[in-house]
Parts: sequence; structure tokens; C-alpha cells
Amino acid sequence: MSVHANRDGFATKLGVLTATLGSAVGLGNIWKFPYMAGENGGAAFLFIYLAATIVVGLPVMISEIMMGRHARANAITTWKKVAPNNSLWMLVGVCGVLAAFAIMSFYADVVGWIFSYIFQALSGSLSSTDPAVAKAAFNATVSSPITAIAWQWGVLALVSVIILGGVSKGIEKTTKTLMPILLVMLVIVCIRSLTLPKAMDGLAFLFNPDFSKVTGEVVLMAMGLAFFKLSIGMGTMMTYGSYFRSDANMPLTATRVMLADLTISLLAGIAIFPAVFNYGFEPAAGPGLLFMTIPAVFSSMPFGQIFMTAFFVLTAIATIGAMLSLFEVPVAFMIEGGLGWSRAKSTIVTALLLGGFGIPATLSFSTMSDVTLFGLNFFDFYDYLSSNLLMPIGGFFICIFAGWKWGKERMQESLSNNGTLNNTMIISAYAFIVKWVTPLLVLTVLLKGLNVF
Ligand code: PFF
Repeated sequence: MSVHANRDGFATKLGVLTATLGSAVGLGNIWKFPYMAGENGGAAFLFIYLAATIVVGLPVMISEIMMGRHARANAITTWKKVAPNNSLWMLVGVCGVLAAFAIMSFYADVVGWIFSYIFQALSGSLSSTDPAVAKAAFNATVSSPITAIAWQWGVLALVSVIILGGVSKGIEKTTKTLMPILLVMLVIVCIRSLTLPKAMDGLAFLFNPDFSKVTGEVVLMAMGLAFFKLSIGMGTMMTYGSYFRSDANMPLTATRVMLADLTISLLAGIAIFPAVFNYGFEPAAGPGLLFMTIPAVFSSMPFGQIFMTAFFVLTAIATIGAMLSLFEVPVAFMIEGGLGWSRAKSTIVTALLLGGFGIPATLSFSTMSDVTLFGLNFFDFYDYLSSNLLMPIGGFFICIFAGWKWGKERMQESLSNNGTLNNTMIISAYAFIVKWVTPLLVLTVLLKGLNVF
């Protein structure tokens, strides 16, 4: 039986939106954005990140979805279909699959910490506003090799089970239920945080820009975060685009996802920074920031322990939508891309590979903390490689293809759903930006960030 004949896909329009948003929203908003802003000058970083999201993120996202839906295939086969005469383009897809592995290898590790925090929150051991206690709890969680690996593998097993369920029954159903609950929960934390006595200092940090901290590398990191946040430049959105309904409005869906994702990142920043300044945490605490400040916020409010537990449960849930999309990239390729494996076999092979690649990332906080590649431990190396190199490079080539090879006519046809949507002006703006602005910007930031000039 041909896999293509009865290819699974998102069944409803709402499902198209929630699955795509589910891929975008995750650790990037709640864990990465706050600590990167904290380390790189707060509002100045936020400002550049905003610009990168709009001028780079959105056009790349639209291009990927457009190509994926047109080809109705995985991240590698899509290139084969859209560029049948030049197999070099397929390399962009191959880089994407590699990026998916690199991201999942450290992502599942952090999600493992989140799962562990659910139980620690329940037990009451996190209920303190003392930075020293919070720091000790975080260090204990990440530095025990066996426990950290066990959590990571548990996470991979959980995601595998949902992926086995398929696209509409597994991915779509899960994301539809969970996104709204997460939003409500975040708003509750924000309210608590904003009513702390020194809340204004935190807000000032997040919203008053000081551009003296901005270097070429910081700009590259902000752009890398935009790629990571919107799950673009590596074929995830291409794969998801291939599951889009034919009547889905692609530019509108991408814009909605971008705006909702941005809102959630800002809410996470508003939840965290007032608490950081109120309780005397270090804003540049790095990856541990979320894990140290959130318990403090909750410890100082009524029923804090229950809310704290619920917060980590929902964060864990939010990460699932993102992990599903990361997992689906290699799985879809293994099923359709010539290997012809079953979904079950592809899922198991992917999980085993990720379990293996993930070990050095997890051990970066314990036994392998001294082992480095290009001066970075494995955890940071996977992160840097994916966000600051593979995704921007992928994004650059996606724009070049969409802007220069796809052709205005085909763009018009695809993005207007064969003329059924009245969005000619939007398409023209997109066509111009994706051809001239985005690729130049990505290339400049990439080369400058790498100190090439
Ligand atoms: N966008 C996700 C987040 O912000 O947590 C991470 C991610 C998911 C990156 C899927 C890449 C991807 F393909």
C-alpha cells in the first residue's frame, strides 16, 4: 500500500492552528527566551528578537509551509519534488533532519528536569524564596547522571507513544486540548509576579533597552532564538505544512502563530523578571533561571504548592507539542523517504537514536562537564549548532528557493489557495521580503555573528 495514497493530515482548521502553534510554543518561550534576555541585556535583546521574528521568522515560516503543502511530503522528499533537477537542494532537508536530532538531544534533557520538578514541587521541597535553596535544588536535579538520563528517556518514551498514534489522532488531538490551559496558568503567574513589591524593577529590565550590550554575537543569538521559537529553517514547518488542509490560509496561520508565540514569550518574561528582582536572583543565571525563580514566585502565595505543581505540569505539556513536531521530522522521512519503514519502526529507531545522542547533553552537567567541542560542552554545542548555524543556514536557502526559484505565479497560486483567498497585497509584500530582505539579513547576521567580517 502506498503511504502517499492515504497520507494522514490535520483534520480540522483549528487543528492546523493548534498543532502549528503547539510546535512553536515550548521551552523556547518559557525557559530559553527569559534566560537569554537575562544574559544579553534584557530589553535590547527583546527588541532585536522582535525584529528578527517579524522580518526573518515570518517569511521563512510561510515559505516552508507553502513548499511542504505543495509537495505533501516530508522535509527531504519535499526538496526532491520542488527541485527535481537539482539534487543539491536536498542537502537543506538533510541539514534539517540533523538539526532536529541536535535539538531533541538537549530538549528532552530539559523536559526531563521539568518532569522531575513536578514531583519535587508536589513533595514541598521547592517551597522556598531563598535563592541559595533554589540553586541547590536545581544543581541537584541536573547533576545526578542516572536520574537525569532516566527522566530524559522517560520523556522520549512518552513522546514516542503519542507519535505512534499518528498525525490527526496523536498530534492534533493532544495540542488542541492543552494550549488554552497553559495560557490561563501563565496569566495567573504573571498576576502574582506583578503584585510583588519590586515588580517594576523586573519590568524595567525587560522593557528599557540598553543597547550597549549588543554585539554581533548577541544579534546572531536573537535571530537563532527566532528560528528556534518558530521551529523554522529545518523542515519542521515543511513537514507540518504537508499536513495542512488545502483550504488553510497559510500566511494568516503563520502570522497568528507568530503573534501568539510572541505573546506567550512576553508573558513568560513578565512572570519571571519581577520575581528575579524581588527575591534577589541573578538575571543572568542561564539555563537554571526558570527553575529557580518560578518556585520562589509560588512559594510566596496562598496554595503555592498546588499552583507550582500545576505550572510545571503545564510547561511539561507545552513542550510535548514542540517535541512531537521535532520527532515527526525524522519519522516522516523514514516512513516516506525511500526507507519505507512503518510508523512504529521509524518511531522506535528515532527514539533509540535520540536516547543515544542525548546522553552526552545530559551528562554535560555532571560526569562530562569537562568534555568540550569547540569550547562548548555537548549541551551547549547541540544548542549552538542548531539555533545559530543549521537553522539560519537552512532558513537562508529556503528563502533563496522560495524567493528566486519558486516564481511569483506559483507563489500567488499556492498562497491564495488557487485564487480562493483575496490576499494579493500580502503575497506581494511577502514575495518582496523573502527575495530581497530576509536572505540578506540572515546572511549578514550569520557572518557577523561568526566574526567573519
Ligand atoms: N519551537 C520550540 C520551542 O520554542 O520550544 C522548539 C522547536 C520545536 C524547535 C520544533 C524546532 C522545532 F523543529
